[in-house]
Amino acid sequence: MMKDMMQQLRDTAISAILKAENVESLEAMRIKYLGKKGELTAILKQMGSLSPEERPVMGQIANKLRSDIEEALDQRRKDLEAVRMALKLESETVDVTMPGKDVREGHKHPMYNVLDQIKDIFIGMGFEIVDGPEVELSKYNFTMLNIDESHPSREWTDTFYFKDDSSICLRTQTSPMQVRTMLTRDVPIRMIAPGRVYRKDEVDATHSPMFHQIEGMVIDKGITMADLKATLNLVVEKLYGEGTVTRFRPHHFPFTEPSCEMDIRCHKCGGKGCPTCKGEGWIEILGAGMVHPKVLAGCGIDPDVYSGWAFGMGLERLAMGEYKITDLRLIFENDVRFLEQF
Ligand code: PHE
Repeated sequence: MMKDMMQQLRDTAISAILKAENVESLEAMRIKYLGKKGELTAILKQMGSLSPEERPVMGQIANKLRSDIEEALDQRRKDLEAVRMALKLESETVDVTMPGKDVREGHKHPMYNVLDQIKDIFIGMGFEIVDGPEVELSKYNFTMLNIDESHPSREWTDTFYFKDDSSICLRTQTSPMQVRTMLTRDVPIRMIAPGRVYRKDEVDATHSPMFHQIEGMVIDKGITMADLKATLNLVVEKLYGEGTVTRFRPHHFPFTEPSCEMDIRCHKCGGKGCPTCKGEGWIEILGAGMVHPKVLAGCGIDPDVYSGWAFGMGLERLAMGEYKITDLRLIFENDVRFLEQF
């Protein structure tokens, strides 16, 4: 009787297990057949009614039945997992022979090519490249550069200020980097500081409210205007070729004394006058001068011991000259058709 029941359980259980379609239903079957409240347990509850001779025999059959069902469960679980793995591998196959997606490669903006050239020249002469904020204290942008409150460049019509108190602005020049460098570094100093500057200018072929400058400064004992001229002449020769003729014209900047502007002889017409140099024969490329003693002293450097020179030049104009670009707007519009020409 009990033996028949066990035989029947074996048949139904094993055939059901072998048909199980997933691991979850296998687990349900394990509980159904072998669990504490399962079918095998139910059968074994009748052990009490057996004779002492029959009991061990039935016990043995029951143990065998349990281990056979367990084995079937195990086997089916392994089979199901193998199938699942095979499906997964198949769905994740990568065809390494398939052609890749086209990646469009960009290239450096022409203006940054010129900047890199200039950086290389100055690094070669032992200068350091420093970087500073575009949102600047008016104190650094103006006051500590000896630009007093009444100077026209401080007007609201010329400068982008933050808040109403005009103590913070978008820097109008890279010259505040002179102040920042003197305040944070020990002398001697040899640095250039390229970056964006902002002025309230209307956009046209030669103006933009945002443009780039490169500041440069040298501070040491015994620095003179001769160092300024020799260094800048060397830079120009490396940039425009040996023998490029330059001239220095007197000028005025509040933070340098004396001050000058540097011109190069027009490389297009050789000085006769042409559209490139607007008939002048010369092209202005930068402003410079000896750092004003007041500026040095204000930054904690003794002007009786140290002296220095500084310059500031516009990067766009240089790039326009080098690549014969006639409209400043082309530099900022980022039209790929334009940029790809360089
Ligand atoms: N900051 C000046 C300008 O924007 C240029 C300059 C820099 C002049 C350093 C002298 C020394 O015009």
